[in-house]
Amino acid sequence: MEGPALSNDRFVIFGFAGSLRRASFNRGLLRAAATVLPPGVELDAFDLTPIPVFNHDVLDAGAPEPVRQFKERMHAADALLIVTPEYNYSVPGVLKNAIDWASRPPGDSSIMNKPTGIMGCSNGRFASVRAQHALRQVLLGTVTPVLHTHQVLVGDGPKKFDADGNLTDAVTLEYVKKHVVALVDWARRQRL
Ligand code: FNR
Repeated sequence: MEGPALSNDRFVIFGFAGSLRRASFNRGLLRAAATVLPPGVELDAFDLTPIPVFNHDVLDAGAPEPVRQFKERMHAADALLIVTPEYNYSVPGVLKNAIDWASRPPGDSSIMNKPTGIMGCSNGRFASVRAQHALRQVLLGTVTPVLHTHQVLVGDGPKKFDADGNLTDAVTLEYVKKHVVALVDWARRQRL
């Protein structure tokens, strides 16, 4: 079997979390990923707070500055890392909204064909599994390849993050590390 596509070349992961909450567990999970990156890999984290609600008339008039930045930085990345909470068995509207912006206009999608990793945390025992499943379906629509191994499903959020949303659970951090390493390795193979 072929060995891992190891390389220390610069590699950028563009990451965003589907929560605007200051002490969000999912934002904390994204920050944790930045602490376990392989050599040469950078995480460009984007805060979705300034992204407006999608309106095709607004897009037709010219994408707003936060959307332009969001898409430009995504275009420049080698892979994406999307971190989703679970809202009513699915992804939060802010996340779906951001993905909708990224996917339009046709011919200028920043999310199409980008190798993508998914992680998620919820308060409950189901650990965002339904939201991650819903996100995979959305990413079928955007023609975005998704890493299906090394899943990061974090349940019981309040027990694993501190009051500022920083990850405190070492076992979860190890899962995050494995996911990021697998994402980079798999994304590099997509480029071969
Ligand atoms: C939730 N939460 C939740 N949890 C879950 O396990 N399954 C669910 O379907 C839902 N649904 C849901 C809907 C809405 C509107 C809210 C606000 C919350 C709880 C959720 O897991 C919890 O609020 C997390 O803390 C959200 O993630 P962040 O903000 O900490 O990243």
